[in-house]
Amino acid sequence: MSASPEQVTSISAGRHDVLVGAGALSALQRTVQDMGPTAVVVLGDDNTLRHCLPELLGRVPALRKAGTISIPAGEGSKSLEVCRELWTHLAERAVDRQALLVCLGGGVVTDVGGFVAGTFKRGIRCAHVPTSLMGMVDAAIGGKTGIDLAGVKNIVGLFHDPVGVYVHPPFLKSLGKRELLNGLAEMIKHGLVRDADHWNAIREAPLHDLDALAPLVLRSAGIKAAVVAEDPLESGPRKALNFGHTIGHGLEAYSWESGHRALLHGEAVALGMICEAWLSWRTGLLDREAYDRIAAQLQELYRPFALDSSAEHRIIELMRNDKKNKAGEFRFTLLTAIGAAAVDVPVSAAQVQEALDHYRLLVRE
Ligand SMILES: NC(=O)c1ccc[n+]([C@@H]2O[C@H](COP(=O)([O-])OP(=O)(O)OC[C@H]3O[C@@H](n4cnc5c(N)ncnc54)[C@H](O)[C@@H]3O)[C@@H](O)[C@H]2O)c1
Repeated sequence: MSASPEQVTSISAGRHDVLVGAGALSALQRTVQDMGPTAVVVLGDDNTLRHCLPELLGRVPALRKAGTISIPAGEGSKSLEVCRELWTHLAERAVDRQALLVCLGGGVVTDVGGFVAGTFKRGIRCAHVPTSLMGMVDAAIGGKTGIDLAGVKNIVGLFHDPVGVYVHPPFLKSLGKRELLNGLAEMIKHGLVRDADHWNAIREAPLHDLDALAPLVLRSAGIKAAVVAEDPLESGPRKALNFGHTIGHGLEAYSWESGHRALLHGEAVALGMICEAWLSWRTGLLDREAYDRIAAQLQELYRPFALDSSAEHRIIELMRNDKKNKAGEFRFTLLTAIGAAAVDVPVSAAQVQEALDHYRLLVRE
């Protein structure tokens, strides 16, 4: 990690760098100038083009002649239909392999934009400019791209590294509280799997105070980047970042189809972390006091999600598509302490059911 006088901290994520701070967009300006792409297209959604594009263009003059493409805001845009529109748009503009796609947005824009860039003409370059907290600390970093299909999250995708990730924290000014909490869930996860001090600092942080949040964004982006650098293709240590996501993805997918309030990704991960921290205790890896502290923090921050036993069966069914499963058996990332995780822990469907039962009763109390 190195800081420059321009207030940019450059962090290596192995196959790409993450630039964080007030000078991040100047770094993007230099990258675009040095690269000299044949065409530049900025991809954003309704909100990010409205709230963030003017500032991006103000700070990165090299993008002023870029074309822009807008996709509807929200998870629904991680679809084959949106990819088709984007591929068609690029084809109609005769975009070639020396072009650059700049993805300006949250995890949806960087996931779908990265996927389209990685597949168009077998791969064009992309640069990520995350605008949500979730994007800054997690989604934009690490080259994982993907779209949803058949009700399953991220089931189609590929690894396609951006030329860089440019994190400009002032973009967070226009982000609502629910979205901040959404990103905070991944920051809490970073602390839980890698850094107990970071977890404690997050517990103290006033979410509405951007000055207090910015150093925590830097720390979380640093944890994500370090884990990715160790294991770019997720064959080992990177699986630590899946803590909360196995049950979380099941809950998220269930919330879309059930007519319940649809959970945001981070909200589902937060509830997944309660269940998976409980499983960590139940399997003897984590002590009870640590579980209680984790559950208390998450319950204080995130609204409960009511379940019944038919919901539990469906959630387990949805989890069967999880990419981490091996030979039909669930593989979990569980905690061994606050700040440390074990990956690839086999867990039976009966144990998952117990964890969901536990959560159902916890919420009912
Ligand atoms: N690839 C990965 O490694 C990875 C990791 C974590 C999450 N993800 C994916 O990321 C997605 C979630 O990301 P997200 O939470 O950023 O969702 P998102 O992209 O839908 O953004 C959330 C909402 O905030 C709006 N928004 C974003 N920036 C804004 C700003 N500065 N001002 C005002 N509004 C703004 C968006 O328009 C959207 O309505 C999920 O699809 C998840 O699967 C991917």
